[in-house]
Amino acid sequence: HRLVSVRRMPPAITARAAAEYDGAIAVERDFGREESLDLLRGHAAEALLFSSGFRLDAEYIAALPPQVKVAATCSVGFDHVDVAAAKARGLIVTNTPDVLTGCTADLAFSLLLSAARRLPEADALMRRDAWGPRSMGDFLGVRVWDKTLGILGMGRIGRAVARRARGFDMRVLYHDVAPLPPAMEEGAHYVASLHDLLRQSQFLSLHSPLTPATRHVLNGETLRLLPRGAVVVNAARGGLIDEEALIALLRDGHIAAAGLDVFEGEPRFDRRFIELPNVALSPHVGSGTVETRDAMGHRCLDNIAAVLGGRPPIDPIWS
Ligand code: DGY
Repeated sequence: HRLVSVRRMPPAITARAAAEYDGAIAVERDFGREESLDLLRGHAAEALLFSSGFRLDAEYIAALPPQVKVAATCSVGFDHVDVAAAKARGLIVTNTPDVLTGCTADLAFSLLLSAARRLPEADALMRRDAWGPRSMGDFLGVRVWDKTLGILGMGRIGRAVARRARGFDMRVLYHDVAPLPPAMEEGAHYVASLHDLLRQSQFLSLHSPLTPATRHVLNGETLRLLPRGAVVVNAARGGLIDEEALIALLRDGHIAAAGLDVFEGEPRFDRRFIELPNVALSPHVGSGTVETRDAMGHRCLDNIAAVLGGRPPIDPIWS
């Protein structure tokens, strides 16, 4: 079988893809959209391996050569895929749930702790070699234990964050479209109204998919419902937050700090975040561990092998 892999993958995945498939595999640099279509045509490839920075929109799907059967995204999120267009074309699209849950939750919790304890400012001071005489008033963050964490979106990653927060002695509340069965709540309590969740959340961590319904769920109005001094964490999708409103509230102190791994329009991001000392920033690295990236790549290749072998995909994004 033949495959085109448009994003540079970890070495183990590149090696497996090259051993199992003919076609074209991005190694030195990623392939662009037009280039990838030429490669799919030129190699008569049946499978596309891509990731969340690569938009599988209606135009791209319409341009796919007819022999392409499966497109595997190396991500759990699939807001970069036009699901209706893929369905209409009969293209099977798969994602990588489960394997990145723990690492993404770890990153969200790292951002929460970093923002709460002002680690970016502390790190910057050390790098400037500006550590002077200590005052007891320096670098006063806020403690996390005994505080309330609100989780918006209690899927796999939200639940993994809840487990971590319980280990740090936080009280955990969550909001989602419906409550989970008690055995899946990880000690968190369901709050039926988003606004009530926000009013109680001294810390807030976002774990919802980005859909038309969740876009800018945090905006000037909803962010203001958080208690003054709240800390906001986003390791899900940038589009969940109206960044203009977040920047204004970080500036005026209503939001004390934020930990952000994702941005609207990434890899570009609003440069004003750099000017804000109370923000911990990272470049969308929630799944960025050797083990997880390998597991994601293998999961994509397993999905492709299933489809091209005439079996059902393991992780179809719709069924
Ligand atoms: C995911 O898996 O959705 C991550 O955000 C990477 O895109």
